[in-house]
Formats: sequence, C-alpha cells, structure tokens
Amino acid sequence: MEMRLCGEEPWKMAVVGAGYVGTVTAVGMAELGNQVKIYDIDEYKMEQLYESKTHLYEPGIDSLLLKHRRLNNIYPTDCIGELIEDVEIVFICVGTPNKPDGGINLDYVKSACKDLKAAGLKENVIVVMKSTVIPGTTDGIIKKEFPNNPVAFVPEFLREGAALEDFMKPDRIVIGTKDSVAEVQLGYVYSFFDCPKVFTDARNAEMIKYASNSFMGTKISFINEIAGICEKTGCDVEVVAKGMGLSSHIGEKALHAGPGWGGSCFPKDSFALARLARAKGIKTRMIDAARITNNKQAIHVVDMCGEVKGRKVAVLGLTFKANTDDCRDSPALRIVDELKKRGATLSVYDPKASMFGEAMRAEIAYCPDVSSAINKADIVVVATEWDEFTRLHPDDFEDMRGTIIVDARRILNPGKFKRHGFDYRGIGYGKSI
Ligand code: UGA
Repeated sequence: MEMRLCGEEPWKMAVVGAGYVGTVTAVGMAELGNQVKIYDIDEYKMEQLYESKTHLYEPGIDSLLLKHRRLNNIYPTDCIGELIEDVEIVFICVGTPNKPDGGINLDYVKSACKDLKAAGLKENVIVVMKSTVIPGTTDGIIKKEFPNNPVAFVPEFLREGAALEDFMKPDRIVIGTKDSVAEVQLGYVYSFFDCPKVFTDARNAEMIKYASNSFMGTKISFINEIAGICEKTGCDVEVVAKGMGLSSHIGEKALHAGPGWGGSCFPKDSFALARLARAKGIKTRMIDAARITNNKQAIHVVDMCGEVKGRKVAVLGLTFKANTDDCRDSPALRIVDELKKRGATLSVYDPKASMFGEAMRAEIAYCPDVSSAINKADIVVVATEWDEFTRLHPDDFEDMRGTIIVDARRILNPGKFKRHGFDYRGIGYGKSI
C-alpha cells in the first residue's frame, strides 16, 4: 500500500455499525476533516441517518451530523458495496453483547466481516476493529477474514452523554497492531490528538479496554463500599473521595458513590473478562467482588427507603446515568424491580429514558413530569443525576404524602431538605448531616 503523510488529503473512511461508537466515530472523524461513509443493517438507524438524524440521545451529535451531512463529509449508505468503494480505512463498530454465560456474542462481528468480504473489500484497506472484543479476536477472527489487509484494534474510550467530548479530547489513544503499515497510517490518522499514545499489539489493546472498564467498575464498587461504612460512622463519602482522589496514585475519576454502575459497558465487559479468566482456569476475586458489590448497591438504596410494602414510591430517573436515553443495565431499573418485589406501588419519571424494551415494566405508572410522579408519594428515590433533578427545591415536593427522600446520586442539598422537614437520606452521608 502506498504510504500517506499526515495532513494530506482527507482520509476516506467507512464505518460499519451506527450505534454509539460507530456514530460518534463517523461524526468525530468528519469533524477532523475526513470523508466518512456510514452503514448499518438496521433500517431505522439508516432512515434516521438519511434524514441527518441519529437514533441516539447524545448531546451535540445531531447538530454535528447535520453540519457534516450538509458539507458532504458524511455519507450514509445501506449498500455495503457503496460503503467500501474507494475507502482507505474501515472501522468495525458493531455490537458485541454478552451471551447468558458472560461470553461475548461475535455474530455481528462475523457477519460484518463476511459482508465486507463478499462486497470485495480491497486488500490495501486498513481494517480497524473498534467493537470491544476479548484478547485474540482481532488477530483471530478479523485477520483470518482479511489475511492480506492491514488489521488493527483501536479501542474507543467514550462515555455516553459525553461521547463527543471524549472523542475530541481523549486522555489516551491505544493503537493495537503488529502490522507496520497499519501502525504508521493509523499513527497519522490519530496524529491530530495531542494525548499520550500507546502503540502495542491487538491483543494488549483488547485487554487494555477490558481491564480499563473492569477497573473503573471496581473503583466505583470500592467507593460504594466505603460509602456504606461512611453512613455508619458519621463520615461523608464525597469528602473522603475528594481527599483520596487528589492522590496521583488514586485519581478523582470513577470515585463518585451512587446506586451502582450500569450501562452497556462496565457490566458487560467485567462479566466477559471474568468469564474469559474462568475459561483459562483463573479466579477473578476482585472483579467478582466488584460485581457482587455493584448488584447489592441497588438493594441498599431500597433498604434506605425503610418499609415500602403498600406505600407509593416515586423513582426519579430510569437511565443508567444522566444525559443519555440508555436504560441498559440501569441501576435505576434494579431499584424499580426491588421496590416492586417488596410490594411498593410505583410511579416513575425520566426526562429521556427510551420507554421501550428493557425499560418497560408492568404495573408502573410512567409519569410525564416530576410533579405527577411525586404526587401523593410516601417516598421519593432519586436514581439518576439529571440536571432537572439537581435543581429541585423542597417546595417542589409539597404534594408528597410522606417525607422520605432517598438521594442515591447525592444531588440534593441535605441541609435544605432537612430544614424543610424532609427525612433526607443520601448515599454515603453519616448521621451527622
Ligand atoms: C464507560 C467508560 O467510562 C468509557 O471510558 C468506555 O469507553 C465506555 O464505558 C465503553 O466501554 O464504551 P459509559 O458506560 O458510557 O462509559 O459511562 P460512565 O460514565 O463510565 O458510567 C458508567 C456507570 O458508572 C454509570 O452507571 C455511572 O452512573 C456509574 N458511575 C460512574 C458511578 O457510579 N460513579 C462514578 O464515579 C462514575
């Protein structure tokens, strides 16, 4: 393949898969001045893209997509032949969901490879794997399908809700390949980013992604455990986390106590890593403990409510965190399920939750706003840290029947609510508040 130099013509890129990673990669790469085509087998996602919209709720993404559609920098296509025509790099960004035993389902990856091959992907095109896969997958499955192409694994470290910011300002870039052409060319592609870069093989890059997500989950479970101890010892976990996080050995990120971690990444990836280790005869005591602690955290939130049987509990927030409509593996849903199990009557409100699929639960009143959700509620649980909830004042809770407010995200002002006669209970606050 002819070597290119950084800063020459825009790169001609193709993205397979228009989920979070694929859409953000496409839009982000266009914003960096590249020509990007994007493809998905899902008709709805394609229809949205043709209309210059995404199926996601992700701050800033629709306006950036529209900008680059107008500039002709992004071209959606549902024809894989057209997708790969005249491209230099293909990013594979399809889903790798868990199987019931924790292993990852590679069906989408395999079928994307087969489709690319059947469409006649040229041998000089760099194939970049971005879907999270267990070590050995890129060198195994991808390289096997494309033996003569330069192949690499380049993990994406983006948080839903802040995905564009993370894409544009990454704290590190990892380029995993043994292929010298891929290494040099991807070095050019990513030269725009002024951050540390790790050049390694695909296997290490794949493990970096799993280890990072599993570590962050472990770190959050650790602080949630400390939060529980704080509650019994008169300490405040936020102050403790701040004091800890200032150490460069610890770091302040992923140290915010809450209802436990969820989403499409930490639960899936820690499960898959533990499963992989088990298959190799290795016990993952740390990761297992982090997962157990995490599952118990929602139970702890419900315990904080006291007796809930026959009482009306309003849950504010269903998404797995703020600024996303994603409810996958959401701790809020774990709380809802536990409350239901204990016989509570439920009303819920979320400003953006995709109210379908996993989020839907029977016998729950889905309310259009906060005030209708908390009307006549005995207990209110704040499960997601939406800005809208952060701004709530004690006066907004006037129509409650009871006084118990359980703040699983620590976003309300405890003193203010207590002064207004509420029985405020927040994660990680000791009795002194
Ligand atoms: C996570 C990682 O942060 C990204 O670096 C990674 O690229 C991504 O997974 C992925 O694998 O694609 P994401 O799942 O979008 O991103 O969300 P996070 O902001 O990391 O939050 C995950 C969960 O942990 C949420 O439920 C959140 O509320 C919780 N969390 C996060 C805490 O409880 N405390 C914290 O301090 C941070």
